[in-house]
Amino acid sequence: MSRQHGLLFTTTGRASRYVISVLIAAPGCPAIRVITRSAPNILDSFPAKLREPPHSIVVADHYEGATFAGAFEGIDYVFHDGLPVHPLEEGMGMSVIDTAKAAGVRHFIMLSVLQPVRIKLPTHKVKLGLEEYLVESRLNYTILQPPHFMQNVDLELALRTRKIPLGYSSDHAQGFVDLVDIAAVVRKILQDPDDHNLARYELVSQNISYKDIAKLVSEAARREIKCDDMTPAEYLATMNSERNIRNEYTEDIVLRILLYYDRWGLVGNSNTLRWLLGREPNSWQSYLKREIRR
Ligand SMILES: NC(=O)c1ccc[n+]([C@@H]2O[C@H](COP(=O)([O-])OP(=O)(O)OC[C@H]3O[C@@H](n4cnc5c(N)ncnc54)[C@H](OP(=O)(O)O)[C@@H]3O)[C@@H](O)[C@H]2O)c1
Repeated sequence: MSRQHGLLFTTTGRASRYVISVLIAAPGCPAIRVITRSAPNILDSFPAKLREPPHSIVVADHYEGATFAGAFEGIDYVFHDGLPVHPLEEGMGMSVIDTAKAAGVRHFIMLSVLQPVRIKLPTHKVKLGLEEYLVESRLNYTILQPPHFMQNVDLELALRTRKIPLGYSSDHAQGFVDLVDIAAVVRKILQDPDDHNLARYELVSQNISYKDIAKLVSEAARREIKCDDMTPAEYLATMNSERNIRNEYTEDIVLRILLYYDRWGLVGNSNTLRWLLGREPNSWQSYLKREIRR
């Protein structure tokens, strides 16, 4: 990995932002290019260094056509983080894979989900299909399979309201990973892509219930914080009132996800992440120590 290499981020999601922050602060950062649909957002919120050569930002709100294909010119590596619960996620992912192949990309890193075989979850079913498409693309690839991001828990909201709102039971264990650890794994892959070619990695740090997370947040913040368990329908109503749901497709899928987590949870094994990092993955304790001290 060096400045001569081009690395393309296909969206501006949180995982991409963490990976960019880690790479840009490290020696030998490749030339980063980011595709965004909204320039003002990225100009305000991305690291200032990203706005200077050799890095670049391409504004494109379609996943085909000359502007989109042009973004792959001079690109060696792609980091693809899909759209969240979006009717275009599968088509966009396929288009990214096809365009990367046509552009002669050397290595494709796809952010998938933990255990995409859980196809009762519609979002996992989409990821499973995309994993198959990538595996059969003849591109060199590494697939990353994270569970819930620790960053999904809005700590600022929890400290202010003393509640962690949830649309499923806070008693079930769920798998978590810190986006900082995902960024560290991506850096390692870029340092030696051949070593990680044709791999699918489960990236789990810890399985823990939201009830136990609330206890850890309470200890770290020295104030009592509790889970606000709502039924899936009640939680959906709050999302709708905050205008977080764009359409009936999203509403239907969010409801199915909440029901699934309420029944099964989403847990996995941390051996692969520990091996990849060469250290213990960040736990909720270490994550809170870092985030609450900020
Ligand atoms: N959240 C988790 O715990 C988790 C765990 C495992 C896997 N994942 C996967 O990670 C991916 C991202 O999820 P997330 O929760 O991390 O989302 P996120 O951080 O909220 O990021 C979503 C990004 O997608 C962009 N976006 C949304 N609609 C778009 C569109 N039509 N065209 C272009 N860009 C669009 C948004 O851009 P703007 O900034 O312009 O709005 C935003 O930057 C999903 O595929 C999800 O399945 C998430």
